[in-house]
Amino acid sequence: MGTTKENLHSKLSDRTARVGIIGIGYVGLPLAVVFAEAGFDVVGVDPAEDKVAAINRGESYILDVETERVRVLVDAGKLRASTDYSVLADVDAVSICVPTPLRKTGDPDLSFIAAAANDLAPNLRKGMVVVLESSTYPGTTREMILPVLESVSGLTVCEDFFLAFSPERVDPGRTDWTTINTPKVIGGITPDCGEMASAWYDQALDTIVPVSTCEVAEMTKLLENTFRMINIGMVNELAIMCDRLGIDVWEVIDAAATKPFGFMKFTPGPGLGGHCIPIDPLYLSWKLKSLNYNARFIELASEINTNMPRYTVGKIQDALNQHKKPINGSRILIVGVAYKPDIDDLRESPALDVIHLLKDKGADVAYHDPFIPYLNHDNLDMDSVEDLLPEVNAADCVAIITNHSVYDYQAILENAQILVDTRNALGLTGQIHPKVVKL
Ligand SMILES: NC(=O)c1ccc[n+]([C@@H]2O[C@H](COP(=O)([O-])OP(=O)(O)OC[C@H]3O[C@@H](n4cnc5c(N)ncnc54)[C@H](O)[C@@H]3O)[C@@H](O)[C@H]2O)c1
Repeated sequence: MGTTKENLHSKLSDRTARVGIIGIGYVGLPLAVVFAEAGFDVVGVDPAEDKVAAINRGESYILDVETERVRVLVDAGKLRASTDYSVLADVDAVSICVPTPLRKTGDPDLSFIAAAANDLAPNLRKGMVVVLESSTYPGTTREMILPVLESVSGLTVCEDFFLAFSPERVDPGRTDWTTINTPKVIGGITPDCGEMASAWYDQALDTIVPVSTCEVAEMTKLLENTFRMINIGMVNELAIMCDRLGIDVWEVIDAAATKPFGFMKFTPGPGLGGHCIPIDPLYLSWKLKSLNYNARFIELASEINTNMPRYTVGKIQDALNQHKKPINGSRILIVGVAYKPDIDDLRESPALDVIHLLKDKGADVAYHDPFIPYLNHDNLDMDSVEDLLPEVNAADCVAIITNHSVYDYQAILENAQILVDTRNALGLTGQIHPKVVKL
């Protein structure tokens, strides 16, 4: 009979530990699959009945996870899912991957983390390790999760169970850096907690990066995403400045990117999108406000980025104006609505804001996106048009919002009357072509 720590360590090392994943979405499902492929028995818990049913049928609903991988694991009895939290009473290691969105007021919505902690707590047993993966403000694991788990279960962290934070860094649609080979930062409530979480993840992932506390791990994720958000804000402002100066910002960026050191390329666009970059830095600024500190870089970048859909609509307006047409009554085709190329994720996509703004001005708006057959979001209820080129031909103006790689941009250009290119999809052609207006 070893200690609680030794027993858990041995089950993690020989992969007989049973794993639970709370929230099987873009982050949770790939993680569940990776642990199951490493040999662990994995159960996913999610209130979404359609996702649970799909997993149990052996089907994937995430582009980055092929259905075949899920099917093999489900058939082998290594992976299943449930809407019932009581299945967690039998597991040894739990990872929490629930959403962390913003409320309409712009404040963090921590209700999903609170619900996950409340529902996990009655199922917590001696000898379990729990890892929070959701992106959140520094302090969440210690201030929000730990008190609930200890008070409801009557167990003590580090003696009876182990608690850590490990940020998910997955970049959806990416194939070179995946859940398995992207280094994984892990920090615990105590060093033992961090060690136990690392011992678990080390079984399935290539590289573990231990840090001293969960707060360091939480802040690491926010540094990464704040860095991106601020740099994107900076190039978006550069695009606005270059426009005033009559300089092609894309050519400038490409030229600067030839510098072999000291420069990292970021590109402007019609606005920020996705579940991370527009949101995570605001978790940090919100937390700092409670400490009477104003996170000025974040506020400024957020202001510039948030205005980009409106700036894009201004470009569309200018382009139509050159042809003596108003937005009101014009047919405008949006090409690509996903928040970035080659994925099916619409969350926080700037296309939604652009469509709303155009409709508010009386435009007849349609969209095409091979990854998003319909969009039902924030009072928008639209189907993607089917035949792209005839629709391009029929539109008064076409706006490329997301540069999916499946599009033939030359054919779009040939068929369009006016083309607003917010992503430099046409490259240098767009610089000199009379039909094209670039961001
Ligand atoms: N998607 C990304 O690219 C990405 C990358 C890095 C980090 N993250 C972070 O990971 C977290 C999860 O993001 P995601 O993209 O996987 O979200 P998602 O919406 O795709 O998945 C979250 C899942 O949690 C489920 N859920 C909600 N409440 C629950 C509860 N109480 N119990 C169990 N399940 C519950 C939802 O039904 C959903 O299936 C967020 O904090 C996000 O910021 C996401």
